[in-house]
This record gives sequence, structure tokens and C-alpha cells, in this order.
Amino acid sequence: MFRTRITELFNIEYPVIGGAMHNISKAELVAAVSNAGGLGVLASTTFDKPEDLRSEIRKTRQLTSKPIGVNLNLFPAMRPRGVDRDIDIFIDEGVDIVESSGASPEPYVPRLKKAGIKLIHKVAGARYAETAERIGCDAVSVVGFECGGHPGLDDVTSLILVPETVDAVKIPVVAGGGFCDSRSFLAALALGAEGILMGTRFVATKECSVHPKIKEWITKANDSDTTIIGKPFKLASRVIKNKPALTAQAMEARGATLQEVLPVISGQLGKKAWETGDVEAGILSLGMAVGRIDSILTVKEVIDEIIGGAKQILERLKEM
Ligand SMILES: Cc1cc2nc3c(=O)[nH]c(=O)nc-3n(C[C@H](O)[C@H](O)[C@H](O)COP(=O)(O)O)c2cc1C
Repeated sequence: MFRTRITELFNIEYPVIGGAMHNISKAELVAAVSNAGGLGVLASTTFDKPEDLRSEIRKTRQLTSKPIGVNLNLFPAMRPRGVDRDIDIFIDEGVDIVESSGASPEPYVPRLKKAGIKLIHKVAGARYAETAERIGCDAVSVVGFECGGHPGLDDVTSLILVPETVDAVKIPVVAGGGFCDSRSFLAALALGAEGILMGTRFVATKECSVHPKIKEWITKANDSDTTIIGKPFKLASRVIKNKPALTAQAMEARGATLQEVLPVISGQLGKKAWETGDVEAGILSLGMAVGRIDSILTVKEVIDEIIGGAKQILERLKEM
């Protein structure tokens, strides 16, 4: 049940993709998502040195025999090294699927295709999905305003963006931004998506390496505990509403430059916050779904709840 063009394309059991998360989507979490029947996606930018990226892909491969994806992050700020060098590694290591995000992957499509790698590009608007289709992407994921990470600049929620994108393209669409359980999974399919992309829900799982205090924070958070920073710099990010986020917003409001705000939003501080569990230590990307998550489960339990729960909902709907 719930076979779609996404399960066919990626050769996976369930149309559930674990969103690549910088500093978080490492071998254990990625393999757990793939082993549970979804598609785990490694966040390549977590590994500054090419040899570390290569060994993390190998480690993931040792933990699962199922297909895995790797994120190709094309946001300029996240590119400490050449994109082609990462692609060399993906090809050498036999990566099955690449999820690109940020700028258009057009220059890299021929190489990826030649190597037999499936490409899904992540966008934050239907017009970008049309471009992804035109340049030869196999699928597209679209993230609404609710999402953790970068929701784009138009503040359009998933409920609007997903059907808009489905209507705009013929390639399969995966819905991201706020999806976290069986109800939202089935809603995504009803909107015409052929799968869901989840980041925030997978942070509050046993396999995720972040400090347990962050997971506990998520279970207690409500739907207004995240906010947007970075919009004046055209790099909107949904993050938890902590002191560094409020400081960054205050600086943005009085016209500070990105250079001035950078010390507050530094990636090093964010990394420290994930590792120490001090939610005030730095900027932490998480989506509005924090308000919908009240348990720390294994990845398999999360995916089983989604699939099992969705079947039950379908039964209920049939009786209406
Ligand atoms: C902590 C965190 C880090 C993220 N890092 C990345 C990243 O490095 N590259 C990327 O393309 N998306 C990144 N994202 C976005 C996710 O891949 C995914 O699109 C998003 O989490 C989906 O929305 P949701 O959080 O509501 O599930 C990140 C999200 C979170 C929560």
C-alpha cells in the first residue's frame, strides 16, 4: 500500500524521505530511515573534508543495504569546497540518489544522469519546480513555510504550495514542511504529492545524534516556538525562537548587514547547541512541526505509525 512513482523511482518501500539536515543526518540516522523502508539522505556539508564525506557514505552503506541519498547543497554559503569534487565522491561510492537544494543543479544534471544517479531537487515554489522538471530532474520536493531549514521567501504554507506544485509539473512531487505523522502523510497524498519529506520529526528519534535535551525540548515545544531569520539577506531560515534568533531579528530590523549578524548566527555556535543540549547556545533550525511532536521514538516506530495510522484513517474515511 502507498506505492507511488516515488517508491518506484527510488526503489523504496514507503514514500517517506528523511530530509538532509546539516550536522544531524549522519550514517546512523540515514541508515535507520532507509532500513525502516523510507529513504535516508546524508547531509554532505556536515563533512568539511572530502575523505570524511567518503567514509561517512561508506559507513552508511555498512549499516544498510537499502538505497540511500546524499544531499548536494548548492546554497553558496554552504560550499566550502567544489561541487564537482563531491559529485566525484557520490559517483565513486555508488550513491543511488542525490537530493539537491539551493541553486539550480542544471550544470550537474548530465554527469549525475550519466552515472545512473536519480536526482530530486528541493524547491520552495512551483515556478522553481517547473525549472527542475525542464532541466531533467527525476522528481521534486517542495517545502512550505512551516519547514525547518530554508522555506524560501514567499511565506506560502504547504497546504497551498503542494497542490500548486503538483499542478505545475508532471514529475512526481514530494511534500515537505510540517509533515510529521500519519494524518499529515495522508493529507500530502490527498494534495497530490507522492511522498513526504520530513526533517524535524526525525530529530526527535532515538537514532538521532543530537543531545537528548534538544529532543526533550521538541516534545514540549508548541507551534509558535519557531521563527524566521535571514529574510533581509534573502536566505530565510526557520529556527527555534531562542535568544540568538531574537537577537538576529532585532539586528535585522535595525538594518544590520549580514557580516554584522554572522557572529550571532554562526554555524559553530549552532553545532555546540546540538551537541551540548543548551538550546540557547546558538541558532537551531527546526520546523513548526515541533508543536506536533510529543514523543521520542525510534525511526522505525515513526515510519510504522505513519503507514499504519494512514491505513486506519483511510478506513475511517471510507465509512463517511
Ligand atoms: C536541523 C535542520 C538542518 C537542515 N539542514 C539542511 C541541509 O543541510 N540541506 C538541506 O537541503 N536542507 C536542510 N534542512 C531541511 C530539511 O532537509 C527538510 O527540507 C525540512 O526539514 C522539511 O521540513 P520539516 O522540518 O517541517 O520536516 C534542514 C532542516 C533541519 C530541521
